[in-house]
Amino acid sequence: MRNIVYIAASLDGFIARQDGSLDWLTGFPNPENLDYGFAEFMAGVDAVLMGRLTYETVLGFEAWPYAKPVFVLSGTLKGVAPALAGKAEVVCGPLRDLLAGLERRGIKRLYVDGGRTVQSFLREDLVDELTVSRLPLLLGGGRPLFGPLGAALAFTHAGTEVYPNGIIKSRYLRNRGS
Ligand SMILES: NC(=O)c1ccc[n+]([C@@H]2O[C@H](COP(=O)([O-])OP(=O)(O)OC[C@H]3O[C@@H](n4cnc5c(N)ncnc54)[C@H](OP(=O)(O)O)[C@@H]3O)[C@@H](O)[C@H]2O)c1
Repeated sequence: MRNIVYIAASLDGFIARQDGSLDWLTGFPNPENLDYGFAEFMAGVDAVLMGRLTYETVLGFEAWPYAKPVFVLSGTLKGVAPALAGKAEVVCGPLRDLLAGLERRGIKRLYVDGGRTVQSFLREDLVDELTVSRLPLLLGGGRPLFGPLGAALAFTHAGTEVYPNGIIKSRYLRNRGS
C-alpha cells in the first residue's frame, strides 16, 4: 500500500493557524479558480486517513467533500457523526496494524491528511509520497506540517509546478535506497 501526503503549507511550514483556521489558504487569490490538481489526485486514491482535528475542520465545511471512504484517526472519538455513517469511520491503534487492516480491505493508495497525523506517519517512515503546495507567505506560527524525526528521511524530487499566483507544488517520492 502507498501512503500519500498531499497538503498545502505556508512558506514557514504551517498547515493552519494555531486556532486551526485556514483563511490564509482558502482566501488566497486564485483568479483562475484552479484546483491545483486536487480532483485528479483524489481520483487516484482509494481512501483518506485523516487526524481527528482535520476531521473536525472538515465537519465545518458546507458539505462533506469526499467521495472516497474516510478513516478518522482518533483515540478519543467513539464514532463519526450519524450523517456520515457509511462514508467515514473512526480508527485507532498502532499505525502499522491499522494500515495492514486497510490493505486487507483492498486499499492500495491512501491519502494521509493532518499535521500531527503526517508527523506520526513520518516518525515510522510510513510516507511513500509527499506533495506539498507552498503558499508564498509566512504565518509566523500555527500547526506545523513537520516535526522531530528519529532519523533523516531522503526523498527524490519527482516534479514541481509553479502556479501563476505564486503557489509552488512539489512532489517527492520516498527514497529508501536499494
Ligand atoms: N493546509 C492543509 O492542506 C491542511 C490539510 C489538513 C489539515 N489542515 C488543518 O490542520 C489542522 C489539523 O492538523 P493537526 O496537526 O492539528 O491535527 P490532525 O493530524 O488532523 O489530528 C490530530 C489528532 O489525530 C489523532 N491522531 C494523530 N496521530 C495519531 C496516531 N498515531 N494514533 C492515534 N491518533 C492519532 C489524535 O486524535 P485524538 O486526540 O482524538 O486521539 C490527534 O489529536 C486543522 O486546522 C486542519 O484544518 C490543513
